[in-house]
Amino acid sequence: MSLIGNIEDFADCTATGIVVGSLRLLVLRRGGDIFVYQNSCPHTRESLDPTGGSVASPDGLLLHCQRHAAVFVADTGECVGGPCQGERLTPVAFTLSNGDVYLD
Ligand code: FES
Repeated sequence: MSLIGNIEDFADCTATGIVVGSLRLLVLRRGGDIFVYQNSCPHTRESLDPTGGSVASPDGLLLHCQRHAAVFVADTGECVGGPCQGERLTPVAFTLSNGDVYLD
């Protein structure tokens, strides 16, 4: 397992792109919950955050691709608006243990 950080390293209701080895990931923290997806938009397979910063809505419930405005449900990764509607972000398995986030 690979440690990617502690939950406190991720600001609440933000989804930030990180790189771990050859993996491009998108990590969302919402309260005590963490969500990890591949940082690869189903529309073009490019990252969601070419301009940097968080791609989460202020309440952390949605993720927005900065390229062509696709909208994803944060909990499921399902695209509910934009050019890849009906497709999904790819979830990445992880374990949250004592606040530390490990890729499985
Ligand atoms: S690359 Fe994400 S909406 Fe086009």
